[in-house]
Amino acid sequence: MKLNIDADRITAELDTLAGFSDVAAPAVTRIVFSPVDMQARAWLKQQCAAAGLALREDAVGNTFARWTGSDPALPAVASGSHIDAIPHSGRYDGTVGVLGMLAAIRALQGAGYRPRRSIELIHFTSEEPTRFGLGCLGSRLMSGTLEPERAASLTDSQGATLDEVRAAAGFPGAFHSVQLAPGFYHAFVELHIEQGPLLERTQVPLGVVTAIAAPATLNIEIEGEGGHAGAVLMPGRRDAFTAACEIALAAEATARSTGAIDSVATVGVCDVFPGAVNSIPSRVRLTVDVRDIDEERRDGMLANIWARCEAVAAARRITVRCEVLNADAPAQCSPLVTEALQAVCGELQLPYTAMVSRAYHDSLFMSRIAPAAMLFIPCRGGVSHRPDEFAAPADVARGALVLAHALARLAE
Ligand code: HGY
Ligand code: MN
Ligand code: MN
Repeated sequence: MKLNIDADRITAELDTLAGFSDVAAPAVTRIVFSPVDMQARAWLKQQCAAAGLALREDAVGNTFARWTGSDPALPAVASGSHIDAIPHSGRYDGTVGVLGMLAAIRALQGAGYRPRRSIELIHFTSEEPTRFGLGCLGSRLMSGTLEPERAASLTDSQGATLDEVRAAAGFPGAFHSVQLAPGFYHAFVELHIEQGPLLERTQVPLGVVTAIAAPATLNIEIEGEGGHAGAVLMPGRRDAFTAACEIALAAEATARSTGAIDSVATVGVCDVFPGAVNSIPSRVRLTVDVRDIDEERRDGMLANIWARCEAVAAARRITVRCEVLNADAPAQCSPLVTEALQAVCGELQLPYTAMVSRAYHDSLFMSRIAPAAMLFIPCRGGVSHRPDEFAAPADVARGALVLAHALARLAE
């Protein structure tokens, strides 16, 4: 089946979507349920409606746009990603998977294809952890891997709960109604930029993802003793920030010391209280992102980081509390989907690499309830979560083309 992907249209739509941002281009900030996110959602729903898709939104704003198949009773084939963007990031993370899927549907429609199984585009709510501290809220709830009660009470930096914010955004309904039963979908595929350098470095245009790394997030609260920066002499100080520095370096050393290249640890947030130049920090909050493709090794890193926290606490006479926000299992992708993607690449004579995803994605949680896999396209320099994130129009269009053929194969 000859399919035409409109590369110029995807590029224009990526630019339009990037315009819904709380910072000036080329950076993008689009926090879940912010005004710009709501504008982006409205615009996306218009595009889906214009493609003749039937729209549905669930109690946390996951959006479903369905192309009803000739046998609508069969479990559908789904594909999608997210459109929320962390502060000062780029315009391709997530959006390529949503707009690439829309382009794939348009190409199939344009070729006169009629699916047997329905084909459904999914826009997942809050893939990024920025606002509520935990990523993939929409797909976690869909897959039953996040307790509805815990989700409802997650709070943002203003103390507003997810329950309050989603209701104010116009998404009523019980949190437990978000969950979908295993088998609801026949298959799930996510098109995404690689967010790493492998494809570009090896000059391979496509990656078929066979496994997705196991993410974990720690919240570490460090309590010392504040005081006057001039009057309190160095002996006997219990400075919470310098203790936090030792803990941050310990997290880095832990990841470097496993001997495995897949082990990573990042201290992405450091809140210092009271945050005055002439006041000794009395309290610090660190968030630590710890990942590995091997779950046991990832858990070993968590244990080691905690042991180092206890040692610092004893040595500096401070207190440390550590909360594990999430420690998820990795995902092995489904051969049903990886083989479909590989077969399409073969038919189209497109080289591909089988690879792991070091970033987590909604596919990690969709794999709990459906056969799932991902298709990667290169991003320049492997850069992501930065304003200079870039994916070439030809790469985006190629990903959408492979996705379209894979959807047609899976929807029969
Ligand atoms: O952090 C991640 O892996 C994803 O980009 N949210
Ligand atoms: Mn991201
Ligand atoms: Mn993403």
